[in-house]
Amino acid sequence: MITNVNAERLLDFIYESPSPFHTIDNVEKNLIINGYRKLEERDAWEIEKGGKYFVNRNGSSIIAFRIPKSTPKAFHLVASHSDSPTFKIKENSEKKSAGVVQLSTEKYGGMLIATWFDRPLSVAGRVVIKDEKGFQIKLVNIDKNLLIIPSVAIHMNRDANTGFEYKANVDTLPLYRMDGEEVGSLDFDTLIAKSVGHKPEEILGKDLFLYLRERGSLLGPEEEFIGSPRLDDLECAFSSFVGFIEAGQADFAREKNAIAVCGIFDNEEVGSDTKQGAGSNFLRDVLRRITISLGLEEEDYLRMIADSFMISADNAHAKHPNHPEFSDAENAPIINGGVVIKYNANQKYTTDAFSAAVFKDICNKAEVPYQVYANRSDMAGGSTLGSISNTKVGMASVDIGVAQLAMHSAYETAGTSDLDHLIKVMKTFYEEK
Ligand code: CO
Repeated sequence: MITNVNAERLLDFIYESPSPFHTIDNVEKNLIINGYRKLEERDAWEIEKGGKYFVNRNGSSIIAFRIPKSTPKAFHLVASHSDSPTFKIKENSEKKSAGVVQLSTEKYGGMLIATWFDRPLSVAGRVVIKDEKGFQIKLVNIDKNLLIIPSVAIHMNRDANTGFEYKANVDTLPLYRMDGEEVGSLDFDTLIAKSVGHKPEEILGKDLFLYLRERGSLLGPEEEFIGSPRLDDLECAFSSFVGFIEAGQADFAREKNAIAVCGIFDNEEVGSDTKQGAGSNFLRDVLRRITISLGLEEEDYLRMIADSFMISADNAHAKHPNHPEFSDAENAPIINGGVVIKYNANQKYTTDAFSAAVFKDICNKAEVPYQVYANRSDMAGGSTLGSISNTKVGMASVDIGVAQLAMHSAYETAGTSDLDHLIKVMKTFYEEK
């Protein structure tokens, strides 16, 4: 079905992005194919008008940008996040119990724990080795069904359906292998080392996470729903970079005098306060260096920031059909109802009257429907990276996303036509704003 081309591309992108390191690697490969040049933070930059560039930090956050041919007057930026809740594997990973070896893990972010049970899992992330050329970073993806977190049978846990508290150090340890000398039964460190062609003692550093093996799928009689791991926030990351790249293939003159920027940041799920997170100096330093390299003055930079606009893109909670009472009665989006503008009086979301007006105008130009989200007033709700980024680089900002169900489940649900809407809005923003 023609309308599902974007959804299938998104599902492939998510499947090939089992960790933030893989997400950024995939985005980089796409950028290179489309003529973008990689910059390193440690090098001197020579930015040219009409040029296309990207830079990553830590391999898990990226900022891509495109310079107009005329002197730029502003930045037009979309920010999203590369990470999702998961379990991180501890340094000493193996743990023996009941004749098997488990992996010792800790929670990364706030997931719906029960959704991780009884389904094939594997391991992805990165390792660091040192050879004659120095430290080398290698991506790891054990591309097979490797692990499972088995539930306790209902007969042994009669409270399982009446509010059971899962403990991360007890209930969520995945089963890895038999404990013994079985043929082919590799200890975990050897398995990881072999996967990158090294010996275990050569691996000096590891950032390894669990992920759900299953590729997402389209659901419903008309394939109107998207079910997949990591829709939060790879759906927004994917939509922003597709819109960014497609807008860049059009005539540059349409982008007027703005530098188009696409930022995807790690560590949103743990508060963004890391060297590569939206709470770091990464964005500010990159924007500043672009202006320095273009030969502009400090005041030019400050004037550009004052005239800039950011879309903070992270998925929103759809009204749940089983529990509509958990949403605000008048301000709850529905699946496939259009792009969601998020509001919060306490400024967890950056949207204000001005930025909402600018964004609604973009939606109108894109001929895309929009709807709104606000928390039920007596419930706390979530937050995202926009307001955190704004404390480092303050500019007019709006918080948006698409409506999804089961946020922070291992397998989330969103709407197929909403994805098309979001990509269209992103492209229009970069072309028209
Ligand atoms: Co998110």
